[in-house]
Amino acid sequence: MIALITGASTGIGYHLAREFAENGYDLIVVANEERIFSSAEDFRALGVHVDAYHLDLSVDDNLHHLASVVRSLDALVLNAGMAVYGDFVRHNALDEELKLVNTNIVSVVVLSKLLVPKLFSSERPRVLLTSSIASRMPGPLYATYAASKAFVQSFGEALRNELSDTKVKVTCLMPGATDTPIFARSGMQDTVVGHKSKDRASAVAHQGFVALMRGDDHVIASSLLSKIQGMGARFLPERLLAYLHRQQTKPA
Ligand SMILES: NC(=O)c1ccc[n+]([C@@H]2O[C@H](COP(=O)([O-])OP(=O)(O)OC[C@H]3O[C@@H](n4cnc5c(N)ncnc54)[C@H](OP(=O)(O)O)[C@@H]3O)[C@@H](O)[C@H]2O)c1
Repeated sequence: MIALITGASTGIGYHLAREFAENGYDLIVVANEERIFSSAEDFRALGVHVDAYHLDLSVDDNLHHLASVVRSLDALVLNAGMAVYGDFVRHNALDEELKLVNTNIVSVVVLSKLLVPKLFSSERPRVLLTSSIASRMPGPLYATYAASKAFVQSFGEALRNELSDTKVKVTCLMPGATDTPIFARSGMQDTVVGHKSKDRASAVAHQGFVALMRGDDHVIASSLLSKIQGMGARFLPERLLAYLHRQQTKPA
């Protein structure tokens, strides 16, 4: 069995890759920095075959290159993502925002289009998309990030329905605030959420893997607080959700 995992160098993706390796999957792992090669060594130490690719997934040619090296797959995990922090109109650079759109949205669309057909010959084909509980609430001060996760969530749910006449099961992993490098990388350490205690990436990945293997449509991971936040968001109006979300993303 073979799993392709994007964003496997750190955080949730790193632990997802470990889950697959511990369950006997050979891996194709992808990330944008050199450390994907040292992460790949950790996965090899679990006794599986690993091919590692150092590719910027915000660049269209790289998506087509990646798809061209894959023959068949049993699991496709589209997890790579980034955040951009700050006031969209008055502060953030448009280039960074567009890089986020390309990484968090366009790469998911292109890789789903090119790689889901390579799952059709698998006995147990699975797709995991890393969304977020932020998909259910507008995200002031990281507006494009939360919007990108709303896209991934809706896209995943629609794909699951479209593929219901095949063996492919699509699962959306919806983490709450999770302790990974994404906060430091996006300059969000000194926000309210940046200072709060967070879920462990290994626990989030484990719940994601279990839900994927069960064929669930989604899983909110991993703590009770994250599950309450994710479920509670369904019942509140958007304007109130935006206000409440800003209480988390504002400077500490
Ligand atoms: N942490 C949270 O609180 C949280 C909550 C909900 C959802 N999520 C989602 O979880 C996913 C993983 O994030 P994380 O929290 O684990 O953060 P992370 O540790 O920063 O991991 C992000 C991963 O994505 C890769 N990546 C980012 N941009 C890329 C690009 N242009 N091309 C290729 N790879 C790229 C990174 O690779 P490089 O290091 O090589 O750039 C890294 O492997 C993301 O989709 C994120 O939106 C996170």
